[in-house]
Amino acid sequence: GPTRRAGAVASLRHIKNPSKVARIVMEQTDHVLLVGPGALRFAEMHGFERMNLHTPESRIAWLRWKARTAPNWAPGLDSPDWKEKAASLLDPSLSEVEKSRILAWADEVAAHPVTGTINCLAVNEKGEISGTTTTSGLSWKIAGRVGDSPIIGAGLYVDNDVGAAGSTGRGEENIKVSGGHTIVEMMRKGMSPTDACLEALSRIARNYNSDKTRLSKFYVVFYALNKD
Ligand code: GLY
Repeated sequence: GPTRRAGAVASLRHIKNPSKVARIVMEQTDHVLLVGPGALRFAEMHGFERMNLHTPESRIAWLRWKARTAPNWAPGLDSPDWKEKAASLLDPSLSEVEKSRILAWADEVAAHPVTGTINCLAVNEKGEISGTTTTSGLSWKIAGRVGDSPIIGAGLYVDNDVGAAGSTGRGEENIKVSGGHTIVEMMRKGMSPTDACLEALSRIARNYNSDKTRLSKFYVVFYALNKD
């Protein structure tokens, strides 16, 4: 935006609002990216509370995923139905219908792990642009895996003279085409936000020789805002 600064954190655990930590990296340090335990220490030094971010629902989903993917975590042949134990972890005041809905959700999420990213771009009345992208990343990823969200130029890029772009979906594909930066550069050359996003998507497709079978196995969504 108008300050032409950027900040990010990655592999940050136990902190509820990482984008607020990223903002402090941007505003109060001489760095752009802090990661891992160092980022957590930094957050705590700035008054952020270390929290257990699990909910009963997310714990059930994770246990379900673990049971599906790791044979030693699967229930015994003579174990009771997993739903009985899982339901006992939920708030007892929930109705049976609501409990069933949560268990069905957990089963679905365990079968198809999700990402949970939000990109937010804004322009004010003075034409000043800002943006953020925040995510919990891919569910149950390899520890240390970082997606595109905190990579300036991939999951987010802002140029106050031109516009901003960000992304959700499979970050690995976006990192390979520096999508955020690509889109802003295309808008600088006069493309509309839509055409600029399509250009970045076409570069992802090109990386797979436009093979629809492989491309159908993931999704990437781009968001763009020009100064107008
Ligand atoms: N786009 C978010 C991620 O890949 O983690």
